[in-house]
Amino acid sequence: MSSALHPDGKLKPHDTVSNPSTQDNIHSLIEARMLTRRSFIKGSVAVTAVAAVSGSLLSGMPLDAFAHKGKGHHHDDDEAETGSPVIGFTSVAPNVLPMTDAVTVPAGYTARVLVSWGDSLTKAPHWDPATPMDEATQNHCYGGHTDGMHYFPFPFTGKGALASRRGLLVTNSEYVDPPLVNSILPASDYATTTITLDMVRAQQAGHGVNVVEIEQEKKQSWEVNRRSRLNRRITGNTPTVVSGPAAGHPMMQTAADPKGRVVLGTLNNCANGYTPWGTYLACEENFNGYFGTSDASFVTNTHENRYGISRGGFGYRWHVADPRFDIAVNRNEPNRFGWVVEVDPWDPKSKPVKRTALGRFKHESAALSVDADDHVALYMGDDERNEYVYKFVCAQKYNKRNQRANRDMLDHGTLYVAKFNADGSGIWMPLVWGQNGLTPENGFANQGDVVIKARQAADRLGATMMDRPEWAAVHPTSGEVYLTLTNNSRRGNTPVSSNKVDGTSGAASANPAVDAANPRPDNDFGHIIRWREDGDTVTATSFVWDIFVQCGDKNTSKTLGATYTQAEFDGQTLGYKGNINGDDYGAPDGLWFDEDGRLWIQTDQAGDAKGDWVNIGGNVMMCADPQTGETRRFLTAPRNAEVTGVINTPDGKSMFVGIQHPGEDWSASFTDNSTWPDSGANGPTTNSRRGVAKPRSSVIVITKDDGGVIGT
Ligand code: FEO
Ligand code: CA
Ligand code: CA
Repeated sequence: MSSALHPDGKLKPHDTVSNPSTQDNIHSLIEARMLTRRSFIKGSVAVTAVAAVSGSLLSGMPLDAFAHKGKGHHHDDDEAETGSPVIGFTSVAPNVLPMTDAVTVPAGYTARVLVSWGDSLTKAPHWDPATPMDEATQNHCYGGHTDGMHYFPFPFTGKGALASRRGLLVTNSEYVDPPLVNSILPASDYATTTITLDMVRAQQAGHGVNVVEIEQEKKQSWEVNRRSRLNRRITGNTPTVVSGPAAGHPMMQTAADPKGRVVLGTLNNCANGYTPWGTYLACEENFNGYFGTSDASFVTNTHENRYGISRGGFGYRWHVADPRFDIAVNRNEPNRFGWVVEVDPWDPKSKPVKRTALGRFKHESAALSVDADDHVALYMGDDERNEYVYKFVCAQKYNKRNQRANRDMLDHGTLYVAKFNADGSGIWMPLVWGQNGLTPENGFANQGDVVIKARQAADRLGATMMDRPEWAAVHPTSGEVYLTLTNNSRRGNTPVSSNKVDGTSGAASANPAVDAANPRPDNDFGHIIRWREDGDTVTATSFVWDIFVQCGDKNTSKTLGATYTQAEFDGQTLGYKGNINGDDYGAPDGLWFDEDGRLWIQTDQAGDAKGDWVNIGGNVMMCADPQTGETRRFLTAPRNAEVTGVINTPDGKSMFVGIQHPGEDWSASFTDNSTWPDSGANGPTTNSRRGVAKPRSSVIVITKDDGGVIGT
């Protein structure tokens, strides 16, 4: 998410600096401490069988990606053990000024639009983008700005050709641009326009999750099956169950839901996760921006400040017409957002479930890992400047023989927060009520308090402030976890300060000094960190880590702002270059390993190829070899678009990628910047014959012209 609705998102044109001496030391230490890759690979073949078919779709799901651990679908065992992925394509050129308003992929590949915002998921007509969106139309059409996604092969078809030709594509619709939804031009007029409840409802309906049955009719030709009974929209108003320690908690109770157990909807679902028991995880990120109040006398408390709740919010202005979002009227409603939401895509009548044991923060992704002993952990970032990296370890082991037994396992377990030590070691600190000062005298009366106030609990334990933790990804054979740190304009700023131990810091208000895990002041281009659990078990409370890459332009050294001093650069000249082995990129966000261990990296910068980005160009998807660091540019995005969300079919031959908010710019008309996709630049769309009215976020499908595996 970028734009005016994402205040900590886009960066000023600053640059960054590394500390090579520190990194060398860390690298040596990691080398010394890491177990051999081979020993872990042999132990990591945790999930091997397709579940027994039963009457329930949930209990009958193929285990697809988890079943690939240690045995890549077209690699033999020896190749899998070396872990050496194959990057066989020729890089595309950066999308520099004047930018191409299209998705560009390498020679030999084709990218086509599969589904766009407003495309009907039923036999009812598609939305006409020349008109304002309304709630009823949006409820049967693909949602707003598409984000994280997963492909669930159709059950009972095994891992053969059918599994890779028919499935459920489940995607997040993170947010909407209100001027596009409500047809307000220039976009800047939205700030003062008269807000009606119908306008708000149309926007809320554009949020949430999409379940879309898709089929590959013939080579390169995927289509939405509009007759499927499984197609579903989950929106900002869909009844959603609360489970886990916060269910029923007084801070979760509202006048409309006095028991605190059923929330209307899910919002700002950014990245995602998925489970081997066949469910989808939608993660609520910048929920705070939807709340506000016109009551000028309202004063936010420290808990609200810690989560960035404010009178103005991000400018959606929903509170003007919908009192549910007026924090002066309905003060507990924000506590009901900021959770990981589990969705069973195979049961269209099932209610989504907010799994509160996983903690409340600005969730980016939830990357699940199953170890050799069938223990389950989820790795999660809190995407805001100076926030933390978390892990949840399930109490129960994964039961591959009885999928129904796994149904509520995300309700029970231990939430941890990470501390990255300067010597390349790290520890997971438990956020458990009664331990480590998480006690009544410090404001934690029970575990419900701990999870609702997860940020304050992590403050109390002295977790490491990070440069905006975005997606995590688990290597399919080594189990190593990679995590993107997209940027941090406050890192190294002065006067130096930390998040206060008593939890009273405002969101993104501190100026942390550089540290080993976040070594660049004014980190504009971001970096990717990785770690490996001690003993290669996901239940470990210690790990080793290093920095995989520091992103940025390797050809032009930048000068930083005046608040950054020579001392912060450890004697280096003011300025910084990236250390990417290959094509340059910055602001890493989306992150995903395919079944062969290729690391796919998606970026979220301003996307207009200006300022610090003149050489890097607009947003991209990169492909990297995690062992050598070799990195190639695979995809460039249309103008002012972000690339976010990626998944393959099990055979690796079709890749789905999200293109979010093309043309976004609140100062004028979005079409001044981009006419994608209805320009037809990546194939016909449902609206391309009528011409372009608005740019529309879309999912594209990428195939290789020779029918091969994507990336080769
Ligand atoms: Fe919605 Fe952290 O990106
Ligand atoms: Ca982002
Ligand atoms: Ca993101």
